[in-house]
Amino acid sequence: MAGLLEALERYGSTEGTILIWSTREDLEKKGRTISVRPVWSGFLKRIEKTGCEFMISNYHDPDVKYLDQALEMVIGNYREERKAVPCLPPVDAFVEKLRRYLEKLLQGGSGVMLADEDVLLGFMVGYKNSELFGRYDGIYCPVYGHGAKVDNKRDIYGELYGRAARKWVEDGLITHAVTLFTHDGELVDTFFWFGFGLRCVDSIKEVSPADVNMSANIRKVLDDLPALAELHEEHNLFYRGSPMFMPNPREDPVLDLRNWLEKENRHIWIAYEDGEPVGYVRIQPSAESFVSEYEGVMNITAAYVKSEHRNTGVARRLLETVECWLMDTGYTLCGVDFESLNPLGSAFWNRYFTPYNHTLVRRVDERILSLKTL
Ligand SMILES: CC(C)(COP(=O)(O)OP(=O)(O)OC[C@H]1O[C@@H](n2cnc3c(N)ncnc32)[C@H](O)[C@@H]1OP(=O)(O)O)[C@@H](O)C(=O)NCCC(=O)NCCS
Repeated sequence: MAGLLEALERYGSTEGTILIWSTREDLEKKGRTISVRPVWSGFLKRIEKTGCEFMISNYHDPDVKYLDQALEMVIGNYREERKAVPCLPPVDAFVEKLRRYLEKLLQGGSGVMLADEDVLLGFMVGYKNSELFGRYDGIYCPVYGHGAKVDNKRDIYGELYGRAARKWVEDGLITHAVTLFTHDGELVDTFFWFGFGLRCVDSIKEVSPADVNMSANIRKVLDDLPALAELHEEHNLFYRGSPMFMPNPREDPVLDLRNWLEKENRHIWIAYEDGEPVGYVRIQPSAESFVSEYEGVMNITAAYVKSEHRNTGVARRLLETVECWLMDTGYTLCGVDFESLNPLGSAFWNRYFTPYNHTLVRRVDERILSLKTL
């Protein structure tokens, strides 16, 4: 508390409540001492003018007191994104699911909430991830794990991220990932200025009755998985190359495909040229985002064309075949998630799909862990 008061004296008296919490385990490990420093001063300076007092009311929110307000923020953000991407499913389809996800996150995650008495002003909470994009642990803040009430996102997110990041780095969480709605330009720009860069994208398209070219050389996989083994292995290892540099481990491609295909409602198509498999695509009922779990959407989770057959329309024909199947089966939407740092994949998906989620990542210099920070 002393640290907080010192900080407040430096900034004059202010209004509001800062709520900082950790998992129960963290609290036991670290004790309940906490000092709050104005890591980003913008928001503090702004509310300083009201002349009241800042105080910590709690570190931990097991009763998820602010759940409803946090949910409202997330729903509001989704509605805004849907204005830019009208084919996104209506929010009513997700409210209950989002409430459950958010409750779990607020109870088990790590982050910061900023409230003025009973009014939540903003929050940023993520899940710890071991070895996130590297040897060090990190934090992943999903799209429903943050929100702000005020219009000036740069200020309030500066305050939220500044405080949350301090705690995360103290806990050894070096890589920080956050998913934002793509068309929230102000927020995307804000995180860009905080040192984040784009890493993953979730995109969507309406299933459309394209001039479906039901080419005889595209076949749905039933049990001929060995035919796909070479392509699948090549695809897995493709991501090790430049500029992706993703250290995917080598795996048994047939076993991997068999395990994947065993689960319900999963489908693969192979494109053949001269009797040889040259490309494939696969779909499944859910992927990375909560939108991907919508009952009317199916998600592409892999697509690959051998390098010597690229740019001849193989992937386009595979996509058309998938869409044709989706139309016949009653799905209205097709989703995909991909690494933005894969230029081939990005160029292809951006041609047909509209992005709605951007996952941004920042890697803190791990040498800070051995130094005393301010
Ligand atoms: C992405 C990939 C599957 C595309 O396969 P492809 O068979 O070369 O794609 P197509 O030839 O069907 O291309 C379809 C269209 O996109 C265009 N296109 C393809 N690659 C492009 C690129 N790099 N930049 C701009 N446009 C591109 C083509 O010109 C084509 O246009 P058209 O529809 O007017 O004919 C292929 O590049 C690939 O296997 N990449 C490696 C793995 C990968 O990135 N998979 C994606 C997983 S996220």
